[in-house]
Amino acid sequence: MKIAIGSDHAAYKAKAEIKQFLESLDHEIIDEGTYSEDSCDYPDYAAKVSRSVQNGVAEKAILICGTGLGMSIAANRFEGIRAALCYKKELAILSRLHNDANILCLGARTQSVASMKYIISAWLETEWEGHRHAARLDKIESNPRGQHAD
Ligand code: RB5
Repeated sequence: MKIAIGSDHAAYKAKAEIKQFLESLDHEIIDEGTYSEDSCDYPDYAAKVSRSVQNGVAEKAILICGTGLGMSIAANRFEGIRAALCYKKELAILSRLHNDANILCLGARTQSVASMKYIISAWLETEWEGHRHAARLDKIESNPRGQHAD
């Protein structure tokens, strides 16, 4: 699978390890940066990775910052992006089954790399259930800026 990955400085080292892990599983990785531990702004990388998913260059993506919070907030501003911050395997599975999450957000200062790998594996292996969840996702997609009352 083509997977985009991005981080800020806080998660630069974790990103390198996760990238290697995903390549060992034969995924094709699009590394959108950051490329050093120099201080940078997570919204820039959330934007690059979100655009890779929006334009179909990547099927799914992973964003890592210190907590995963900033990345998830920033990525969810992009139409068609369903970014889920998952610190447990159960959340990762449900974010796929119910929410069809297309970006997984993780926190390098709140999770170990071993835990990230465990969560990522579950996330990548789980398919969206569809059915009753489709109408709910349609409501989100048809109101991307929250401007409609219903
Ligand atoms: C950077 O210091 C930190 O704020 C960032 O990595 C992230 O945790 C933001 O949500």
